Amino acid sequence: MPNNTNMYYPDELVEEVLAANDIVDVVSSYVQLKRSGANYFGLCPFHNEKSPSFSVSKSKQIFHCFGCGTGGNVLTFLMKYENQTFQEALRQLSDRAGIALPEINYSAEAKKREEKKQQLFAVNKEAATYYYHLLRSDKGRTGLSYLQKRGLTDDMMKQFGLGYASGSSNDLIRHLKEKGFSDDLLIEAGLASFDEKQGLHDKFWNRVMFPIQDVSNRVIGFGGRVMGDAKPKYLNSPETPIFDKSRNLYGLNIAKRSRKNHFLLCEGYMDVIAMHMAGFTEAVASLGTSFTEGQASLLKRYVSGVILAYDSDQAGVTAALRNLEILRKAGVACKILDMTPYKDPDEFLQAEGKEAFEERIRQAENAFLFKIRMKEKEFNMEDPEERTAFYREMARNLCSFTDAVERENYAKALSSRYYIKEEQLLSMVASYDRAGGENIPARPVRQGTIRKQVQEEKWKRSVRHSEGLLLTALSVKPDWFARIEPFLSADDFEEGLPKEVAEAFLKALKEHTYEEEKFLSSLISMFDTAEEQEAVSALFQTEFENPQAEEEQQKKAFLDVACAVKRFSVERITEKAKEDPNLLLKLVEEKKALDTLSRLR
Ligand code: GTP
Ligand code: MN
Repeated sequence: MPNNTNMYYPDELVEEVLAANDIVDVVSSYVQLKRSGANYFGLCPFHNEKSPSFSVSKSKQIFHCFGCGTGGNVLTFLMKYENQTFQEALRQLSDRAGIALPEINYSAEAKKREEKKQQLFAVNKEAATYYYHLLRSDKGRTGLSYLQKRGLTDDMMKQFGLGYASGSSNDLIRHLKEKGFSDDLLIEAGLASFDEKQGLHDKFWNRVMFPIQDVSNRVIGFGGRVMGDAKPKYLNSPETPIFDKSRNLYGLNIAKRSRKNHFLLCEGYMDVIAMHMAGFTEAVASLGTSFTEGQASLLKRYVSGVILAYDSDQAGVTAALRNLEILRKAGVACKILDMTPYKDPDEFLQAEGKEAFEERIRQAENAFLFKIRMKEKEFNMEDPEERTAFYREMARNLCSFTDAVERENYAKALSSRYYIKEEQLLSMVASYDRAGGENIPARPVRQGTIRKQVQEEKWKRSVRHSEGLLLTALSVKPDWFARIEPFLSADDFEEGLPKEVAEAFLKALKEHTYEEEKFLSSLISMFDTAEEQEAVSALFQTEFENPQAEEEQQKKAFLDVACAVKRFSVERITEKAKEDPNLLLKLVEEKKALDTLSRLR
């Protein structure tokens, strides 16, 4: 929705920040741009390409990629590139331009909480630095040789900030106290414990240390591994006000820059490091606890899909089955890697290398098919009764697809994998559906539904296209609006974002406040998610078929497009009028308007 942003900052302030940050300057610090004519071009940072189709317009203060279609203003760029929220991007730009944003007013209690967090960050940072240097000192030799034996390079140890906690039980405490940190803070940070027998003592000793960082590279906790077979293998920091294990992921601070549209999700810290070392910098792991919904929504800020690289043992399979449900619910696409015959990604990479791993990624299995394949193991397929039961199980699972096309595609895949006729499977699904599926609302698939869905999709696309053409044309030739104004309004645009955009745009045209240079960039910042901003930008980037054509021809094409938009609108009202007779009168009027409009051509 537009204007949420204004709960925090007024429009004028957003405008001021936009005006003070030239998009070409800002983008140039991330992407190499070359001037060509009125625009600047470079390689698109949002998709893989070899020749530049990413363009930045200095006059309009927007960017647009002709390859992947993404676009927006300077805020959109930062939100997408740095994965920031609207507020974060605005803050970065205001800092850059030296504009003061109003401080959010903290209550006294909130202020105290905030201070505590800052202290915890500070003590963790100091501890991480201490462990880091210890690993590289004489005292750290055992740790270093352990990590080297496991194949880690110095570079990797450095990148992940690995360290060492020595064999004596109060080295760290002594160091931190010298630096002025209090006993209480050390205990609260989980770096020290207190008991009657030992007094205050280090929590981690004789372990190699894995600092755990949040997305902003701040150390929020530690994992410490023994160097042999002692138990427990890993000791992790407890949760603290800055360490929420269900909302952070190991390696995310690096993976977020990998520019992949998926993450590799694995179980262990060592797996993450091994994968990064092999060049798979999109690897992340949960934090010694099971994967959570919070982590799924965290992932979703960065990628649309996840490839699970879990251990190949039963525990790994169970965890994978559990987590793909969580990911599905969060709307994250999911595939599963097969690590057999090796235990985990680390071992796989040591044994087979990165090309073989890449091949496994290419072969990653679809989540649903994986689930069914694991189910199959519970049935004896030689036995007709069990076989039937397995087919029922498949049908029951297929009920979860409410989209008819999707359901058919999966039925097709399963029928060829498990030797059952597709029609038979689908009719089983239908009967399950009627019975209520399992936990799934009954929604029988009606005949003809698929055809209707395909047509609807096509229809929606052509509506969007025509509306985009009209807006684009008007943004270049605002004077033409007068011709169509009596016949066409924002209400003729598709409900939702296109209509909101048309409202603001046509209003500006009507009131003659429209300025080609500034308008689009400001319009974009009325919306506060990168997706919406891109959609707004896309509406205005629709290529007019022949920009070189004569003015008369262009005008004719423009009127054609206006008619198309109006016709779609009339069709929409016709549909609605079937349910609501009150709309009949309106329908007659709108049809008349369409008639007049088409006669203008
Ligand atoms: P290596 O055995 O060193 O290769 O480590 P790994 O990362 O392969 O460990 P593993 O697959 O055994 O465990 C996966 C993750 O679970 C680890 O990275 C830890 O986060 C966590 N974990 C493993 N063992 C323990 C333990 O004993 N205690 C706790 N709290 N967490 C553990
Ligand atoms: Mn391992």
